[in-house]
Amino acid sequence: MTSETSRLVAGFDDLDRDWLRGRGSVKWHRPGPDVLPAWVADMDFPIPPAVVTALHDAADRRDLGYPDWPHGSPLRTAFARRMTERYGWAATAERVREQTDLIQCLQLILHLATSEGDAVAIQTPNYPPFLATLETMGRRAVPIPMKDTDEGWRMDFAALDAAVRHAACKVLVLVNPHNPTGRVLTRQELEEVAAIARRHDLLVVSDEIHAELTYAPHQHIPFASLSSDAAQRTVTLTSATKAFNLAAIRCAVTHYGPDRLLALRDAQPPDLYGTVSPLGVVATEAAWRDGDAWQRDLLTVLDRNRRRLSEVLRALMPRLRHHPPEATYLAWIDTRPLDLDEPPTERVLKAGNVLLDGGTPFGPGADAFLRVNFATSQAVLEDILTGLTRALADGAGQ
Ligand SMILES: Cc1ncc(COP(=O)(O)O)c(C=O)c1O
Repeated sequence: MTSETSRLVAGFDDLDRDWLRGRGSVKWHRPGPDVLPAWVADMDFPIPPAVVTALHDAADRRDLGYPDWPHGSPLRTAFARRMTERYGWAATAERVREQTDLIQCLQLILHLATSEGDAVAIQTPNYPPFLATLETMGRRAVPIPMKDTDEGWRMDFAALDAAVRHAACKVLVLVNPHNPTGRVLTRQELEEVAAIARRHDLLVVSDEIHAELTYAPHQHIPFASLSSDAAQRTVTLTSATKAFNLAAIRCAVTHYGPDRLLALRDAQPPDLYGTVSPLGVVATEAAWRDGDAWQRDLLTVLDRNRRRLSEVLRALMPRLRHHPPEATYLAWIDTRPLDLDEPPTERVLKAGNVLLDGGTPFGPGADAFLRVNFATSQAVLEDILTGLTRALADGAGQ
């Protein structure tokens, strides 16, 4: 381990294994006592102290009455403020609507903006519930494969342009930063996408949930901030759930660029999509207002872990292909050079006792890929890497 990959951070590296095993949430609960989980995109770290305090304060007030939000929840201004402070994007509070999670956000937008059989372009590989959503909603998924180059994962703009034209897509689902490759598109790349969107009059649904987990020197740029044309054709989806480890709060925001879509949204019966819980709003506001110091430590730990993972892959499993992510705590690993005779997730579970995600749910061409969640303590990560190496090193060494 190099000094860069060995520094410990209090509050993140002192995870108690009994506490982890005793958690009721799915990541540690489902796999059982003998398996190390590095699958679903939850982090192992305790939630930020600022969120704990805010939720305690809310409980101490002994008040869980109906919220008084005649003009929407306080999340609307909190989101607009966060976007301005972080990215210089003057998002408009009045254009924000609350949902429980980003899958619901995407489903609602597709419901409002498209009909069954309509074509929707989407990068592949991709976050499995988004691909599953297109399937269950009867939209035609038009895969835009990310290209694995020696410089890292790249979007194929010519393929995007051709596919959108050929399939007459109405919508592009853009996940940036990208899950699972961890790519953060540069301004130049985003402008290429924006030009294609303009040429084909696409609605862009921009999932930016991993934005705050971007590693320097990479920089997240909100798609809607690129130009007035991009602003008017973009629906931005995000929440505090990834960057502050709050999946259970069920609270997300949608920022509507297109006036017509916002009007359609507001014309729906107000209760059709439910109301977010005030506790979710309290937690999100606290994270955005008081969570930055915690998040800085978090990024130190995640950056260290991503370097360590690459170090181990390079040293012990050099035949595996991997580009360190530019954001997120997910590593996307190509096992095709090993030519395994079974899905790699199964091999790693059987021979390494580590539960990973990967394979076909991530879309066409993903069968031989693994996704490792490295948002854990140094000690747990070492055990995950040991399991991974035990399961794959036979075929993966030189
Ligand atoms: C790219 C992406 N979008 C959306 C989500 C959904 O997050 P949530 O359920 O907190 O809305 C995830 C979760 O992993 C994700 O990685």
